[in-house]
Amino acid sequence: MSDLHGSPVLHCQSLYKDYEDGVRTPVLKGVDLSVPAGQSVAIVGASGSGKSTLLQLLGGLDAPTRGSVAVAGTDLSNLGATALGRWRNRHLGFVYQFHHLLPEFSAEENVAMPLLIRKESVASATSKAQELLEQVGLGHRLSHKPGELSGGERQRAAIARALVTEPSCVLADEPTGNLDRQTADGVFEVLMQLQREKNTSFIVVTHDEALASRLDRTLRLDTGVLSE
Ligand SMILES: Nc1ncnc2c1ncn2[C@@H]1O[C@H](COP(=O)(O)OP(=O)(O)O)[C@@H](O)[C@H]1O
Ligand SMILES: [Mg+2]
Repeated sequence: MSDLHGSPVLHCQSLYKDYEDGVRTPVLKGVDLSVPAGQSVAIVGASGSGKSTLLQLLGGLDAPTRGSVAVAGTDLSNLGATALGRWRNRHLGFVYQFHHLLPEFSAEENVAMPLLIRKESVASATSKAQELLEQVGLGHRLSHKPGELSGGERQRAAIARALVTEPSCVLADEPTGNLDRQTADGVFEVLMQLQREKNTSFIVVTHDEALASRLDRTLRLDTGVLSE
Protein backbone atom coordinates (compact mmCIF):
# COMPACT_ATOMS: atom_id res chain seq x y z
CA MET A 1 0.00 0.00 0.00
CA SER A 2 1.32 3.48 0.68
CA ASP A 3 4.00 2.55 3.18
CA LEU A 4 6.71 2.56 0.53
CA HIS A 5 9.47 4.03 2.64
CA GLY A 6 8.40 2.81 6.04
CA SER A 7 6.96 6.28 6.71
CA PRO A 8 3.87 6.46 8.90
CA VAL A 9 0.51 6.21 7.22
CA LEU A 10 -0.71 8.99 9.44
CA HIS A 11 1.33 11.55 11.28
CA CYS A 12 0.37 14.66 13.20
CA GLN A 13 2.54 17.06 15.09
CA SER A 14 1.80 19.76 17.66
CA LEU A 15 -1.84 19.78 16.68
CA TYR A 16 -3.91 22.56 18.24
CA LYS A 17 -7.58 23.22 17.74
CA ASP A 18 -9.58 26.10 19.15
CA TYR A 19 -13.23 26.59 18.25
CA GLU A 20 -14.07 30.27 17.86
CA ASP A 21 -17.68 31.34 17.95
CA GLY A 22 -17.71 34.46 20.09
CA VAL A 23 -15.92 32.55 22.80
CA ARG A 24 -12.70 30.73 22.22
CA THR A 25 -12.80 27.03 23.14
CA PRO A 26 -9.39 25.40 23.12
CA VAL A 27 -9.92 21.66 22.55
CA LEU A 28 -6.61 20.18 21.38
CA LYS A 29 -3.41 21.50 22.94
CA GLY A 30 -0.48 19.90 21.17
CA VAL A 31 -1.34 16.41 19.97
CA ASP A 32 1.40 14.25 18.45
CA LEU A 33 0.60 10.94 16.83
CA SER A 34 2.30 8.63 14.39
CA VAL A 35 0.61 5.50 13.09
CA PRO A 36 2.55 2.95 11.02
CA ALA A 37 0.97 0.78 8.34
CA GLY A 38 -1.28 -1.91 9.71
CA GLN A 39 -1.38 -0.64 13.27
CA SER A 40 -4.69 -0.43 15.13
CA VAL A 41 -5.05 2.39 17.64
CA ALA A 42 -7.82 3.07 20.13
CA ILE A 43 -8.44 6.60 21.33
CA VAL A 44 -10.34 6.83 24.58
CA GLY A 45 -11.30 9.84 26.69
CA ALA A 46 -14.20 11.47 28.46
CA SER A 47 -17.13 12.85 26.52
CA GLY A 48 -16.21 16.33 25.31
CA SER A 49 -12.46 15.68 25.52
CA GLY A 50 -12.05 16.30 21.79
CA LYS A 51 -11.94 12.80 20.31
CA SER A 52 -14.26 13.59 17.40
CA THR A 53 -12.45 16.87 16.83
CA LEU A 54 -9.14 15.01 16.57
CA LEU A 55 -10.55 12.47 14.12
CA GLN A 56 -11.98 15.28 11.95
CA LEU A 57 -8.54 16.90 11.77
CA LEU A 58 -6.79 13.60 11.02
CA GLY A 59 -9.27 12.97 8.22
CA GLY A 60 -8.85 16.43 6.72
CA LEU A 61 -12.51 17.24 7.36
CA ASP A 62 -11.54 20.30 9.39
CA ALA A 63 -8.31 22.30 9.62
CA PRO A 64 -6.22 22.64 12.77
CA THR A 65 -5.63 26.03 14.38
CA ARG A 66 -1.95 25.15 14.46
CA GLY A 67 0.18 22.11 13.66
CA SER A 68 0.21 19.66 10.78
CA VAL A 69 -1.42 16.46 9.65
CA ALA A 70 0.20 14.20 7.06
CA VAL A 71 -1.63 11.30 5.44
CA ALA A 72 0.43 8.83 3.38
CA GLY A 73 3.35 11.25 3.49
CA THR A 74 1.49 14.34 2.27
CA ASP A 75 0.81 17.35 4.48
CA LEU A 76 -2.93 17.99 4.10
CA SER A 77 -2.47 21.75 4.41
CA ASN A 78 -0.57 21.68 1.09
CA LEU A 79 -3.64 20.42 -0.78
CA GLY A 80 -6.45 22.53 -2.23
CA ALA A 81 -10.06 21.45 -1.73
CA THR A 82 -10.26 19.23 -4.82
CA ALA A 83 -6.90 17.56 -4.25
CA LEU A 84 -7.75 17.07 -0.57
CA GLY A 85 -11.01 15.36 -1.48
CA ARG A 86 -9.17 13.08 -3.87
CA TRP A 87 -6.45 12.30 -1.34
CA ARG A 88 -9.07 11.44 1.26
CA ASN A 89 -10.94 9.18 -1.12
CA ARG A 90 -7.72 7.42 -2.04
CA HIS A 91 -6.14 6.93 1.38
CA LEU A 92 -8.79 7.13 4.07
CA GLY A 93 -11.96 5.34 5.04
CA PHE A 94 -14.48 6.66 7.58
CA VAL A 95 -16.94 4.90 9.86
CA TYR A 96 -19.23 6.83 12.18
CA GLN A 97 -21.51 6.02 15.08
CA PHE A 98 -24.48 6.41 12.75
CA HIS A 99 -24.01 4.61 9.47
CA HIS A 100 -24.53 7.58 7.07
CA LEU A 101 -25.57 5.20 4.31
CA LEU A 102 -27.67 6.76 1.57
CA PRO A 103 -31.26 5.69 2.23
CA GLU A 104 -32.35 5.54 -1.43
CA PHE A 105 -29.64 3.10 -2.43
CA SER A 106 -29.13 -0.60 -1.81
CA ALA A 107 -26.33 -1.94 0.37
CA GLU A 108 -24.46 -2.91 -2.79
CA GLU A 109 -24.86 0.55 -4.34
CA ASN A 110 -23.80 2.25 -1.11
CA VAL A 111 -20.63 0.19 -0.92
CA ALA A 112 -19.87 0.65 -4.63
CA MET A 113 -20.28 4.44 -4.34
CA PRO A 114 -16.71 5.41 -3.28
CA LEU A 115 -15.37 3.43 -6.25
CA LEU A 116 -17.80 5.06 -8.67
CA ILE A 117 -16.71 8.45 -7.33
CA ARG A 118 -13.19 7.33 -8.27
CA LYS A 119 -14.48 6.66 -11.79
CA GLU A 120 -14.17 2.90 -11.59
CA SER A 121 -16.46 1.03 -13.97
CA VAL A 122 -19.87 -0.02 -12.62
CA ALA A 123 -19.01 -3.68 -13.22
CA SER A 124 -15.77 -3.51 -11.26
CA ALA A 125 -17.26 -1.38 -8.43
CA THR A 126 -20.23 -3.73 -8.13
CA SER A 127 -18.10 -6.82 -8.01
CA LYS A 128 -15.82 -5.35 -5.30
CA ALA A 129 -18.87 -4.19 -3.33
CA GLN A 130 -20.33 -7.69 -3.45
CA GLU A 131 -17.07 -9.21 -2.28
CA LEU A 132 -16.76 -6.83 0.66
CA LEU A 133 -20.39 -7.31 1.65
CA GLU A 134 -19.83 -11.05 1.64
CA GLN A 135 -16.79 -10.57 3.86
CA VAL A 136 -18.82 -8.65 6.44
CA GLY A 137 -21.54 -11.30 6.38
CA LEU A 138 -24.04 -9.43 4.23
CA GLY A 139 -23.81 -11.45 1.03
CA HIS A 140 -27.52 -12.21 1.38
CA ARG A 141 -28.51 -8.54 1.81
CA LEU A 142 -27.06 -6.94 -1.33
CA SER A 143 -30.25 -5.38 -2.59
CA HIS A 144 -31.60 -4.29 0.81
CA LYS A 145 -31.81 -0.58 1.49
CA PRO A 146 -30.48 0.76 4.81
CA GLY A 147 -34.03 0.99 6.19
CA GLU A 148 -34.42 -2.74 5.59
CA LEU A 149 -31.28 -3.67 7.54
CA SER A 150 -30.79 -4.07 11.30
CA GLY A 151 -28.53 -1.66 13.22
CA GLY A 152 -25.64 -4.13 13.22
CA GLU A 153 -26.10 -4.89 9.52
CA ARG A 154 -26.06 -1.19 8.69
CA GLN A 155 -22.76 -0.76 10.54
CA ARG A 156 -21.34 -3.77 8.70
CA ALA A 157 -22.38 -2.18 5.40
CA ALA A 158 -20.77 1.10 6.52
CA ILE A 159 -17.56 -0.81 7.29
CA ALA A 160 -17.64 -2.47 3.86
CA ARG A 161 -18.05 0.97 2.29
CA ALA A 162 -15.08 2.35 4.26
CA LEU A 163 -12.82 -0.54 3.25
CA VAL A 164 -13.86 -1.14 -0.36
CA THR A 165 -11.30 1.39 -1.64
CA GLU A 166 -8.52 -0.40 0.30
CA PRO A 167 -7.56 2.76 2.20
CA SER A 168 -4.25 3.09 4.02
CA CYS A 169 -6.10 4.07 7.16
CA VAL A 170 -9.63 3.82 8.51
CA LEU A 171 -10.89 6.44 10.97
CA ALA A 172 -13.81 5.25 13.05
CA ASP A 173 -15.72 7.43 15.53
CA GLU A 174 -17.55 5.21 18.03
CA PRO A 175 -18.48 2.73 15.28
CA THR A 176 -20.29 0.46 17.72
CA GLY A 177 -21.51 3.17 20.10
CA ASN A 178 -25.11 2.78 19.01
CA LEU A 179 -25.28 -1.03 19.26
CA ASP A 180 -26.00 -3.50 22.04
CA ARG A 181 -23.07 -5.42 23.54
CA GLN A 182 -23.37 -8.57 21.47
CA THR A 183 -23.96 -6.78 18.17
CA ALA A 184 -21.11 -4.36 18.96
CA ASP A 185 -18.73 -7.28 19.55
CA GLY A 186 -19.72 -8.88 16.23
CA VAL A 187 -19.30 -5.66 14.27
CA PHE A 188 -15.98 -4.94 15.95
CA GLU A 189 -14.73 -8.43 15.13
CA VAL A 190 -15.55 -7.89 11.44
CA LEU A 191 -13.72 -4.58 11.47
CA MET A 192 -10.61 -6.08 13.06
CA GLN A 193 -10.61 -9.10 10.77
CA LEU A 194 -10.70 -6.92 7.65
CA GLN A 195 -8.10 -4.60 9.12
CA ARG A 196 -5.72 -7.53 9.69
CA GLU A 197 -6.38 -9.09 6.28
CA LYS A 198 -5.80 -5.87 4.39
CA ASN A 199 -3.10 -4.51 6.69
CA THR A 200 -5.06 -1.28 7.04
CA SER A 201 -4.15 1.14 9.81
CA PHE A 202 -7.11 1.78 11.97
CA ILE A 203 -7.85 4.55 14.46
CA VAL A 204 -10.98 4.02 16.48
CA VAL A 205 -12.52 6.36 19.00
CA THR A 206 -14.40 4.41 21.61
CA HIS A 207 -15.39 4.69 25.22
CA ASP A 208 -15.57 0.91 25.39
CA GLU A 209 -12.40 -0.11 27.22
CA ALA A 210 -13.02 -3.80 26.48
CA LEU A 211 -12.95 -3.11 22.74
CA ALA A 212 -10.00 -0.72 23.10
CA SER A 213 -7.93 -3.42 24.81
CA ARG A 214 -8.18 -5.62 21.71
CA LEU A 215 -6.27 -3.13 19.55
CA ASP A 216 -2.49 -2.78 19.23
CA ARG A 217 -2.35 0.47 21.14
CA THR A 218 -4.58 2.59 23.39
CA LEU A 219 -4.17 6.36 23.68
CA ARG A 220 -6.03 8.59 26.09
CA LEU A 221 -7.12 12.12 25.24
CA ASP A 222 -7.20 14.24 28.39
CA THR A 223 -7.17 18.05 28.75
CA GLY A 224 -6.26 18.42 25.08
CA VAL A 225 -3.24 16.13 25.16
CA LEU A 226 -2.88 12.57 23.92
CA SER A 227 -0.85 10.09 25.95
CA GLU A 228 -0.04 6.40 25.73
N1 LIG B 1 -18.18 23.11 15.96
C1 LIG B 1 -17.92 23.38 17.24
N2 LIG B 1 -17.97 24.65 17.71
C2 LIG B 1 -17.69 24.93 19.00
N3 LIG B 1 -17.33 24.01 19.91
C3 LIG B 1 -17.27 22.72 19.51
C4 LIG B 1 -17.57 22.34 18.15
N4 LIG B 1 -17.42 21.00 18.05
C5 LIG B 1 -17.05 20.57 19.28
N5 LIG B 1 -16.96 21.60 20.16
C6 LIG B 1 -16.56 21.51 21.57
O1 LIG B 1 -15.28 20.91 21.62
C7 LIG B 1 -15.20 19.99 22.69
C8 LIG B 1 -14.81 18.61 22.17
O2 LIG B 1 -15.87 18.08 21.39
P1 LIG B 1 -15.76 16.66 20.67
O3 LIG B 1 -14.53 16.65 19.83
O4 LIG B 1 -17.03 16.38 20.00
O5 LIG B 1 -15.54 15.69 21.93
P2 LIG B 1 -15.74 14.11 22.08
O6 LIG B 1 -15.86 13.53 20.71
O7 LIG B 1 -14.53 13.65 22.82
O8 LIG B 1 -16.96 13.91 22.90
C9 LIG B 1 -16.54 20.02 23.40
O9 LIG B 1 -16.43 20.84 24.52
C10 LIG B 1 -17.47 20.59 22.36
O10 LIG B 1 -18.51 21.30 22.96
MG1 LIG C 1 -17.37 12.38 19.80
